[in-house]
Amino acid sequence: MAKLQVLDHPLIQHKLSLIRDEKTGSKEFRELVEEVAMLMAYEVTRDFPLQEIEVQTPVAVAKSKVLAGRKVGLVPILRAGLGMVDGMLRLIPAARVGHVGLYRDPETLSPVEYYCKLPSDIAERDLIVIDPMLATGGSASAAITFLKDRGAKNIKLMCLIAAPEGISAVQSNHDDVDIFVAAVDERLNDHGYIIPGLGDAGDRLFGTK
Ligand code: PRP
Ligand code: URA
Repeated sequence: MAKLQVLDHPLIQHKLSLIRDEKTGSKEFRELVEEVAMLMAYEVTRDFPLQEIEVQTPVAVAKSKVLAGRKVGLVPILRAGLGMVDGMLRLIPAARVGHVGLYRDPETLSPVEYYCKLPSDIAERDLIVIDPMLATGGSASAAITFLKDRGAKNIKLMCLIAAPEGISAVQSNHDDVDIFVAAVDERLNDHGYIIPGLGDAGDRLFGTK
């Protein structure tokens, strides 16, 4: 079974509380989502392999370490995943970014694909699928299936808030995908919204309603 990790760093938890607050407007919401994504990226990349190199300092030669040249791909699920891209790129600037466009049909809650543009070499990349909300898990599961259908092998999923239902769905559909979240909330309501959650992530990021 894939790993579920709740990232309980105090800075992540503090900023997540501000993000949840209905009084937080779009500008601040966007800034906070970007900041939390950057902090989460630090934890999600913890298992990246290193290789030893020698560096000439002004004083002597140091045996030091650098990332072992793995290629990374970030895959935001449109639209709300876009809010997390820049924060992650601050820490992983060489990452390529692919986009998967999905929206939830409000009646069926099933994901509908409307866009997909990925780096050509996704099979060789460590991919991190990003989306603030993991509710029923339909969108994340579908996005991961698209990636696997196109050859991706090494995939992680990173979300701000998850419902238990969404975690179970992704784990049963993709038991090779580790999931990283900042919080696991209580449940979904009848409209598939996470309770207590933060509301509609896309609307809050982009000021739509
Ligand atoms: C939201 C969210 C996820 C999805 C989660 O997107 O950003 O992609 O819902 O729900 P699920 O786990 O039940 O699939 P939404 O469909 O509202 O589209 P948007 O990002 O374009 O607003
Ligand atoms: N999508 C959102 O934006 N919020 C939820 O609570 C569930 C799905």
